[in-house]
Amino acid sequence: MKFLNAEPFRIKVVEPITKSTREQRDEWIEKAYYNVFKLRAENVYIDMLTDSGTSAMSSNQWAGIMTGDESYAGCKSFFNFEKAAQDILGFPYVQPTHQGRAADFIMSQLYAKKGGYIPGNMHFDSFKGHAEVAGSIPVDLVIAEGRTANAINHPFKGNMDIEKLQAIIDEHGTENIPLIIMTVTCNGNGGQPVSMANIKEVSAIAKKYDIPFMIDAARFAENCYFIKQREAGYEHKTVKEIAKEMFSYADGCVMSAKKDGMVNIGGFICTRDEEMVPMINLLAIVNEGFVTYGGLSGRDLEALAIGLDEGTEEEYLEYRIEQVKYLGDELAKRGIPIILPTGGHGVYIDARKFYPKIPQSEFPGQALVVELYKTGGVRGVELGSCAFSKRDPETGEITYPELDLVRLSISRRVYTNRHMDVVVNSLADVYERRDTMKGLRITYEGPILSLRHFTARFELL
Ligand SMILES: Cc1ncc(COP(=O)(O)O)c(C=O)c1O
Repeated sequence: MKFLNAEPFRIKVVEPITKSTREQRDEWIEKAYYNVFKLRAENVYIDMLTDSGTSAMSSNQWAGIMTGDESYAGCKSFFNFEKAAQDILGFPYVQPTHQGRAADFIMSQLYAKKGGYIPGNMHFDSFKGHAEVAGSIPVDLVIAEGRTANAINHPFKGNMDIEKLQAIIDEHGTENIPLIIMTVTCNGNGGQPVSMANIKEVSAIAKKYDIPFMIDAARFAENCYFIKQREAGYEHKTVKEIAKEMFSYADGCVMSAKKDGMVNIGGFICTRDEEMVPMINLLAIVNEGFVTYGGLSGRDLEALAIGLDEGTEEEYLEYRIEQVKYLGDELAKRGIPIILPTGGHGVYIDARKFYPKIPQSEFPGQALVVELYKTGGVRGVELGSCAFSKRDPETGEITYPELDLVRLSISRRVYTNRHMDVVVNSLADVYERRDTMKGLRITYEGPILSLRHFTARFELL
């Protein structure tokens, strides 16, 4: 009975957030050079910048913080974490790291090779960067349905294109494909899920050609919940059973625990290949710290052990995915163009459709982020012309990405649907005024084009 359904928790500790006036926000955003990364967080009413490291921990996790064992080597909290990861993911060897990108780094050192192509559905930036530094070429092979903002009703828009995977192996030869990675859910196109069938197919190809196959598991629990909801044969399985099966098809995984690990910091890399373990441990020791803490405190490991279990609870996941859908449905009802179906961790708005009169050279996504903040104190993030443009090194010519998106990430267990209503009403207000809106001009980029979204300064046109 749906009408009896609400959050599967009650609130024990509250953190005040501050409302502000439009005049105050106009001033704050101007001082921040119209870049929301430069705002003080205390001047944000509802923060949807990211779902990473922003979860609210449970009373059990906070209790775990108190019992965390801070011994340098062999701490009890490591063994609690190791057992939780082994039980839930099924890999025998587990190395903690301070966050996901440190695990990405270890993975790149293990597998990436000069001139090698690394196919994935859509790689996350931190692995992409590490792979490129190692001389590899990461390639995104997500299916065509996953590349468009149009409301194509495909249940698994995060799937990898199997024909393209085969083609890249045929073209370059297995000796030039050092690794295949599947990111679940596919963060790059809106937290879209990957089906078990697709993971199985990719795994079979990897096995056939003896290519290692890793999963980027940052949002694995949300992916497993979508499999339960949308894939025939999984409706009666538990999310934990689905997770076990999913990971059984891979040689290992990396995880940013700041997402489905339900903690504010942490990551890890797992493998079933015993031969890899000494190198993983060595890379952890030189970069992260001794193997049993990996850059984390004992209390972080304790909270993560509990978080992995809580993040795969079905009542929690039902609430989580329904909250994202609630926000998406309410925006769609008001005609606001979003990526459909909604994915796992947020809603993505198509800023080019929202502001058809603002050309990409004037940053329609960034303009929307700024106006949403000014209107409702809501902080989203641009994933478009500012974040993803490329510049030709010879001619200096800029190529704009196909999509100009604004992501509204939802932090786990943090906001209620009343907060979502504020977001919807603020966006609806901006949408009504869309014809009068103008874009932005960039006045300072910062040292690196691909990271300019963090550093850029803008002025209003
Ligand atoms: C899919 C995916 N992989 C890896 C990472 C990197 O993790 P971290 O931010 O913990 O370094 C992220 C972070 O957003 C991510 O979304």
